[in-house]
Amino acid sequence: MLKKSKVAAVFAALALVVTTAPASSAATDKQLEIFTWWASGGEAAGLAGMTTEFESKNPKTPFINATVAGAAGVNAKGVLVSRMQAGNPPDTFQAHAGEELSSYVKAGQVEDLSFLYKSEGWDKIFPKDLVKTLTTNGKIYSVPVNIHRANVLWWNPGTAAKAGITAAPTTLDEMFADLEKFKKAGVKTPMVLAGGEGSWAMAHLLDYVLLASMGADKFEGLFTGATSWTGSEVAAALKNYQKLLSYGDKGKNSYGWGEAGAAITKGTGGFFIMGDWASAQWQNEGSKLGTDYTFAAGPGTVGLYQWLSDTFTLPVGAKHRNAALTWLKLCGSQEGQDAFNPLKGSISARTDADLSKYDDYLKSASADWSKDRLVGSTAHGVNADNTFMAAMNAAVGKYITGGAKDNAGLAKDLAAAGAAK
Ligand code: GAL
Repeated sequence: MLKKSKVAAVFAALALVVTTAPASSAATDKQLEIFTWWASGGEAAGLAGMTTEFESKNPKTPFINATVAGAAGVNAKGVLVSRMQAGNPPDTFQAHAGEELSSYVKAGQVEDLSFLYKSEGWDKIFPKDLVKTLTTNGKIYSVPVNIHRANVLWWNPGTAAKAGITAAPTTLDEMFADLEKFKKAGVKTPMVLAGGEGSWAMAHLLDYVLLASMGADKFEGLFTGATSWTGSEVAAALKNYQKLLSYGDKGKNSYGWGEAGAAITKGTGGFFIMGDWASAQWQNEGSKLGTDYTFAAGPGTVGLYQWLSDTFTLPVGAKHRNAALTWLKLCGSQEGQDAFNPLKGSISARTDADLSKYDDYLKSASADWSKDRLVGSTAHGVNADNTFMAAMNAAVGKYITGGAKDNAGLAKDLAAAGAAK
């Protein structure tokens, strides 16, 4: 459950935004249908922070929650495609910055929002490099609500202390050494794996291992064609991946990321690589940062920020366009972002966030975001589109079902997914 004090804080912040929101009033529209995959836990709490207030300030425009459960959008994106094809888009939908958004732009499914960037002053307040990933032919097509970090290592300080681990591993080799320590100390699952939900979290783990093993330049080369999926660098990365999986439930864990991640806060798991939405989830469950769990940059990726951004769009043919525009203004505003992100476990996409509203993890993420080298996430839309992501999930699922043995087969499947991009 969302803590009452937090709800009050969110409402107070958003009340200010909505009451001062200019002209394009939502009140003339009968409803606002918002499409996301934020269906439960910390994700739903973050969304509720914005939507409840939207609705209370726009009572004639009820919020219709078109959430499709399945983390990282595994189910939602399919439903969205069908709705768009049937000419029945929601009023706004969640899309990741980068290639994922570009595919909707190429298909002519979302409106140019450049005018909002001018009217709201966003062209000066969102980082230029971020805006580039939302832009096609000089037009900006969505509004970023946050920045998430994908390459985060999580663990339980008490469990680590029992295993004799006193500092965060900074390289993959140090991580393997610590996994051995967890194993020797009798920790049930040294490497926590989330194999459910269409294998997306296993693809997320692979995305991190590729970056940690190859470094940023070679990793980025995978998406420009400069690095081959069937070359020696990927082969070495896949060996690391295979080794990490051997410290899990032999890769057979069928939990979603939320259920799997609970092993950290319960103390039965060693390490977990997951995006920083995990922190929001654990806080939503009542766990405490620093006591029940702690964090570091993924070993081998210190100084690299593997980022992704959730953005909201205005679909062509949205039935409640005014309501959608009011929502988008709320999404892009400072108060909206500073109310939403502390609950969602992400940092503001704006450069003027009020850091006093963010916890120690998010303060540290914010500092890293401004000094680290930024590298896109593949599993969350920056580097590759929905077709590639689905193919990557399928390739990883096949590999794990086969007992995590066929590295060459996995490389071949990833190469085929790359070719299909
Ligand atoms: C990502 C999304 C995050 C979070 C995560 C797990 O794709 O950007 O906001 O929802 O999936 O569901």
